[in-house]
Amino acid sequence: MANLAVQIDQLSRFYKSGKNQITALDNITFELETGAQVALTGPSGSGKTTLLSLLGALEHPDSGQIILFGQNINLMNERQGADFRRHNVGFIFQDDALMPELTVFENIALPLILIKTTAKEIERRVQKILADLDLAKFSQSFPPSLSGGEKQRVAVARAVIHRPKLLLADEPTANLDRQAATLVLDAIDKLAVEYNLTMIMATHDPRVYNRLPTRLELIDGKLI
Ligand SMILES: Nc1ncnc2c1ncn2[C@@H]1O[C@H](COP(=O)(O)OP(=O)(O)O)[C@@H](O)[C@H]1O
Ligand SMILES: [Mg+2]
Repeated sequence: MANLAVQIDQLSRFYKSGKNQITALDNITFELETGAQVALTGPSGSGKTTLLSLLGALEHPDSGQIILFGQNINLMNERQGADFRRHNVGFIFQDDALMPELTVFENIALPLILIKTTAKEIERRVQKILADLDLAKFSQSFPPSLSGGEKQRVAVARAVIHRPKLLLADEPTANLDRQAATLVLDAIDKLAVEYNLTMIMATHDPRVYNRLPTRLELIDGKLI
């Protein structure tokens, strides 16, 4: 059991919409080993974002259990959940969600500042990842001056700079053209291997999910 990264047991999540109740996730059960690289597929509205939010401890389930790397995140209070997230989880969203008033270097450094990394170590790690992702020339640039694909590569660097165990990506290439998307996916692949990340990437694009070895498919909140 020591190698299990994710253990999800009978997980459900409901939302209220007026008088109706929407079942966003319907009794989901699965396990992933450490280092698994998984595509989470399914049509729009099938529950992909909800599942990623629960896995990242951004939301609480209505029933069921989530154990990440042996830790039951349901039992954590808000502060413990935030602490767990800062150390163990990296997120990449559809939009890069960078801070426009901070430089590329500063954006990537943010997760390290939150976990009180020394300035020297921040400098070392951020310079290395900038070089690895061919972004060094943008170190002192501000995000609005970068292309969509460049910004998303910065967002990838920011998502993994603190060496999370779990990388959650929600349609990270949905807003990019084919060429930029390929560069972003290549960057994610390279870092996932180098840092031995367990990765779950939501997508409904076959060109994205066909790159990944494992696929989980949701339809109407059910795993099929
Ligand atoms: N905050 C919310 N309030 C109400 N309904 C929501 C909320 N978030 C998601 N839903 C609903 O839950 C279902 C699953 O949504 P979501 O997880 O975003 O799917 P996907 O990411 O696969 O498109 C959808 O029917 C959606 O409308
Ligand atoms: Mg979604």
